[in-house]
Amino acid sequence: MMKELYALGIGFTTPVFIEIAIDCGYTIAGLYHYNNDRTGEMDHGYKILGSFEDLFSQDITGKLFLLTMGDMRIRKDLTDRIYSRGGIIPTLIHPTARVSKFAHVSQNGVLIAPNCIVQADVTIADGVVMRDQALICHTTNIESFVFIGPQALVGALLNIKEFVFIGQKSLLISKKAKIIGPNSIVGAGSVVTKSFESGTTVIGNPAKLLETKGTSTEVNP
Ligand SMILES: CC(C)(COP(=O)(O)OP(=O)(O)OC[C@H]1O[C@@H](n2cnc3c(N)ncnc32)[C@H](O)[C@@H]1OP(=O)(O)O)[C@@H](O)C(=O)NCCC(=O)NCCS
Repeated sequence: MMKELYALGIGFTTPVFIEIAIDCGYTIAGLYHYNNDRTGEMDHGYKILGSFEDLFSQDITGKLFLLTMGDMRIRKDLTDRIYSRGGIIPTLIHPTARVSKFAHVSQNGVLIAPNCIVQADVTIADGVVMRDQALICHTTNIESFVFIGPQALVGALLNIKEFVFIGQKSLLISKKAKIIGPNSIVGAGSVVTKSFESGTTVIGNPAKLLETKGTSTEVNP
C-alpha cells in the first residue's frame, strides 16, 4: 500500500496535522499552498511543490492527500476537488485514539487526533475532524465536516449536523443536546443542555444564543 501523502495548506495547524499523519505511518511527499508565492520554499522541513491550481492541473488519480487547514468549508471544497479528480483523502486515526469496534467511521478524510475516544455505535461521516482528547459517547451521530475541538465531550444519543463547530473543552450533555443544527457554533467551554437550530452560535453554562448567523462557521480553529 502506498503511504505517501501530499499535504494541502500551509498554516498554524499544518504541522499538527502532519505529525498525526506521520504517527499513522505515512510520509509527506511535499506541500501545496493556495497560491504560488512560496513555491520552492521549505516549511517545517517539507518542500512547497506548488499551488492548488498547479496540483489540480496534474493527474492525481490514486494519489493520497492530507488537508491541513482548520476551516471546514475549505476542507469540503478541496475534498470535492480531490475526489472528483480521482484522488483520495484517507481517514487518519491516531494510534493513541480508542475507537470502538462498534463505531462506524467514514474512510473519507476523517481525522482523529491523539487520545480521542469514540464509543460504541457512534457514526462519524466524511471529513470530520476530532482534535486531541475529544470524546464522543455512544450512539451519537456526527454528520460530515463537523469540527470537534480538543477535550470536547459530546454526550450520548445526540445528533450533530453537518458543519457544526464544537469549541475546545465544551460539553454537550447526553440525551439533552439532542440536535445541534447545521452550521452552528458551540463556543469554547460551553455546556450545552438542549437542542439548537441551524446557524446558531451558543456560549456559556448553560449555553445560550450569542447570535444567529444562518450560514457557515467563520471560526478559525
Ligand atoms: C464563541 C466564539 C466563536 C465567539 O467568537 P466571536 O464571534 O469572535 O465573539 P467575541 O469574541 O466578540 O465575543 C462576544 C461575547 O461573547 C463572549 N464569549 C466569547 N466566547 C465565549 C465563550 N466561549 N464562552 C463564554 N463567553 C464567550 C465574549 O466575552 C464577549 O462578551 P462581551 O460582549 O460581554 O464582551 C469564540 O469565542 C469561541 O469560543 N471559539 C472557539 C475556539 C475554539 O474552540 N477553537 C478550537 C481550537 S483547536
